[in-house]
Amino acid sequence: MNTPGTDQLREIEKSGKRVCIQTFGCQMNEYDSEVVKAALEKQGYVLTDSEEAADVVILNTCSVREHAENKAFNKLHLLCREKKNGRPNLTVGLMGCMADNYKEKLLKDFPQLDFVAGTRNVMDVTRLVKEIEEKRSRGVPPRNDSAGQDAQPTRLGLARNGTQTVIARSPAGATKQSKSLQLAAISKEGWWEEYAETVPRREGVRAFLPIMTGCDNLCTYCIVPKTRGREVSMRGGEIVDQVKKLADQGYKEIQLLGQNVNSYGRRYVGEDESYRTRKEPNRFPELVAAVSQVPGIERVSWMTSHPKDASRELFEVMRDYPKVTHWFHLPVQSGNNRILKRMGREYTIEEFHEKLELLRKLVPGAAVSTDMIVGFSDETDEEFEETRRVMEKFMFDSAFIFKYSLRKGTPADRLPDNVQQAVKEERHRVLLKLQKEVSRKVNDAWIGRQADVLFSGRSRVSDQDLIGEMRNHKRVVVKAPAAFMGNVKQVRLTRLKDETFYGELCEV
Ligand code: SAH
Ligand code: SF4
Ligand code: F3S
Repeated sequence: MNTPGTDQLREIEKSGKRVCIQTFGCQMNEYDSEVVKAALEKQGYVLTDSEEAADVVILNTCSVREHAENKAFNKLHLLCREKKNGRPNLTVGLMGCMADNYKEKLLKDFPQLDFVAGTRNVMDVTRLVKEIEEKRSRGVPPRNDSAGQDAQPTRLGLARNGTQTVIARSPAGATKQSKSLQLAAISKEGWWEEYAETVPRREGVRAFLPIMTGCDNLCTYCIVPKTRGREVSMRGGEIVDQVKKLADQGYKEIQLLGQNVNSYGRRYVGEDESYRTRKEPNRFPELVAAVSQVPGIERVSWMTSHPKDASRELFEVMRDYPKVTHWFHLPVQSGNNRILKRMGREYTIEEFHEKLELLRKLVPGAAVSTDMIVGFSDETDEEFEETRRVMEKFMFDSAFIFKYSLRKGTPADRLPDNVQQAVKEERHRVLLKLQKEVSRKVNDAWIGRQADVLFSGRSRVSDQDLIGEMRNHKRVVVKAPAAFMGNVKQVRLTRLKDETFYGELCEV
């Protein structure tokens, strides 16, 4: 086995190699990037935003729509070209959902790419980078591209569910399998602690914390179950411990992350069933309540949820525990039952509506955001019209609208992608315009009201102003002393500009 010697490691550390990580995709990817950055920094690497100045460039990628993939592919092409034409010592890596989606094919298609690490191998990235750098520093000649064609990339540490992806090749194109990379990250005891403790992603007073990853749902359009694999949850007791640590460090808001947080606790890291019977939160509503009661925590929110798992029990937790957010992201996707069925969403629009009404009844003032897809396979004008009417009627606070993008390897790959691009664009335009009007109406109703605002940062426009969020996640700018940062104060909302409220303190 070729592990770097201590002297060589010191060389790398001393040289302060620069690393640039570019992130595409969702909150989970943002989080993973921060973990990798922190782990690399610990090893003496210096972070940079500049690709030009970097010795190592890592793309953390997203596969959810073709557009997201194309952005990463374009970037990868450019980097590989640069490496070939004059920057032979550049290390180029790819992580994230495209790594799981395309695996070794990426190494075949991009001969300059040094490594590919899947979403469950975030903790292996540092080892990979160091090994590649170390080999180069020992003078192993750079790969000859055409000769490298026959190099068979090695897949390391494949998990039982087949989703674990770490592939690397040496700069010379040899594909020696390194024992240090064989750690089966996800099933390894302690994997999560290492991951969560590597410095979770933080923004001002808010800390993000993954509580589960993967998705067991069968939404036919969606690539996530393929890329992130089956659901696994982190143990409730450990999550609460992490939150206590974050609270001790002064964080006030915790955002719990997962592709499908509502089904938290279906299966645990390590698949040890005894976790289920331990005295610790093992369902999502319980977990939210427990986290919200950690002293020092002022707010708990989460991303994202599947409507079928959003329960009365969770709504009651939102109502009964004062530190729990009043914001719910509840993706409806379509307003038409035939399309919802084709999408495999497992609810009818009537059931969704009932849930929405229940939430609004139990949690007055709750803000609900949503996702919608236009132009899914076979969607007719009439079916789209139903989605449009749902948007008008349900009065979501905000909505993300997406044009359907067929993903290879999803169940919908077998259905025709038969709505013309121009029609998708028109439907997209219609919904965007309508939601803008709806959001305006919903938000206008808040003017003149009072709200609890958690101050989270300074305004970029004026140093007299602080930015905060209402309990339902709406942004507010208020003239307030910097000492209020991290505190919750009553604010009267006075006006609205775009999506941002302005207000004044009720008591000073
Ligand atoms: N797990 C989350 C988010 C998944 S991806 C959830 O279920 O809410 C975020 C959004 O991207 C989805 O809600 C969906 O609206 C959209 N999306 C997913 N796959 C898509 C595809 N193939 N084409 C267009 N939009 C898609
Ligand atoms: Fe994709 Fe559906 Fe899972 Fe969300 S719930 S990640 S849309 S399969
Ligand atoms: Fe994209 Fe993967 Fe997130 S596909 S949306 S980065 S889970």
